[in-house]
Amino acid sequence: MSKYIYGIDFGTTNSALAILNTETNNLVKLFTIPSLLFFPDSINPKEPIVPTVGHEAISLYVQNRMRGRFMKSIKKVLPNKSFIDTRIGSKSYRAEDLVALILVHLKKIADEFVGENVKTAVIGRPVVFDENPEKDALAQERLSKAAQIAGFEEFYFQMEPIGAAFTYERQIENQQLVLVADFGGGTSDFSLMKLNPDAINQADRTADMLAQGGIYIGGDSFDSDIMWHKGTPHFGRGVKEEFTPGKPIDLPLSYFYSICSWEKMNFLDSLRMKLSIAKSYQYSGKDYRVKNLQTLIEQNLGYELFKQIEKVKINLTKSDNAIFEFNESEISINEPLSIQEFSKEIIEKNVDKIEQYLQEFLDKNQIKNNEVDVVFMTGGTSMVRPLNNIFIQRFGSEKIKSGDNFNSVAMGLAYSYRVLVEAETS
Ligand SMILES: Nc1ncnc2c1ncn2[C@@H]1O[C@H](COP(=O)(O)OP(=O)(O)OP(=O)(O)O)[C@@H](O)[C@H]1O
Ligand SMILES: [Mg+2]
Repeated sequence: MSKYIYGIDFGTTNSALAILNTETNNLVKLFTIPSLLFFPDSINPKEPIVPTVGHEAISLYVQNRMRGRFMKSIKKVLPNKSFIDTRIGSKSYRAEDLVALILVHLKKIADEFVGENVKTAVIGRPVVFDENPEKDALAQERLSKAAQIAGFEEFYFQMEPIGAAFTYERQIENQQLVLVADFGGGTSDFSLMKLNPDAINQADRTADMLAQGGIYIGGDSFDSDIMWHKGTPHFGRGVKEEFTPGKPIDLPLSYFYSICSWEKMNFLDSLRMKLSIAKSYQYSGKDYRVKNLQTLIEQNLGYELFKQIEKVKINLTKSDNAIFEFNESEISINEPLSIQEFSKEIIEKNVDKIEQYLQEFLDKNQIKNNEVDVVFMTGGTSMVRPLNNIFIQRFGSEKIKSGDNFNSVAMGLAYSYRVLVEAETS
């Protein structure tokens, strides 16, 4: 058996793989890729379409001038019961097949690095894939199938925030009660753990893992919030259509809900919906904003648009003002956004929901703010200021610690291998 195992954090936005040498219990390498797939349109329908993954998916998508199927946030498909499969060219892909493409890609890079076919992995999962237990179980089952398709024979699941806790434990010198808060693209996960540097090599850590919890809100939700408030008015929200003269009505809200989430945008790319939008264009008096909506769908500009939205969000972590700019095929958006508006009007509801959840989580586990020694914040979304401020106000800035926001989980998943093996054999 190989001395290496992989810790794999399959994330909504980014996926990471950490290689652990089990003999020394140290990491030897780490790889991170965006969790993206691109299937270029086929030139010859008889030839199979070759999917591309990660960074290559982005470059090919740009090279192909966005013609083809570009897939983002695939993790969100896992708990979706109504997703059976999707047909691309002559092949249909189930949820596990799509996820397996990412796992195969990561495994290949890592196998090439160690020069072996490593078949053992610790795979992360959010605390909550879905609030409905049946859907949650389905998600893990699909992830499990994906791991098998990718060639893993022995694999364990570990909660993502527990992974992050194991990484943080390597940075401390004394025992601490730590609240791990992992804010990703799809979910916000919490874990309460007793960490102790002397326990790093201890196999049974069950007593130290005090509580886990999570909520299905993440960075993608904030992007959708920005799109709703600052983007949709440019695509016809607020425009009226007049089928019966003298009786103008609002355009269907379903258009705008769909363009606010990346996964739903494809829904508008059907003949029926395209006809409906074309009709709205006519009956709105050929309003340029409805034309923008047509262009967005027909030219497949969703990814580009959301990239600009993400940029605004990221800029607001560093400065108090940012501009949402998008100029593509006659669509022209130039919307200034201040940190105040972002915090108070745009993402406030979702941030409040996260805070409420945090309060419930602490109450349920009978933990008071002052009993928490350290809050270890990780994940890309932990940098969003209004979210970060909640923790500063509640626990004090001296208790807030952070590390590598994008790799802490994968590293800790690998470190937790021993604990999982022990739990299985004892
Ligand atoms: N500097 C930044 N400021 C604010 N948000 C950021 C920053 N950098 C990245 N993000 C956001 O962080 C999210 C990705 O974080 P991360 O890679 O931790 O998520 P993930 O692990 O893929 O998702 P999940 O754990 O929910 O499955 C995205 O929503 C991205 O827009
Ligand atoms: Mg994550």
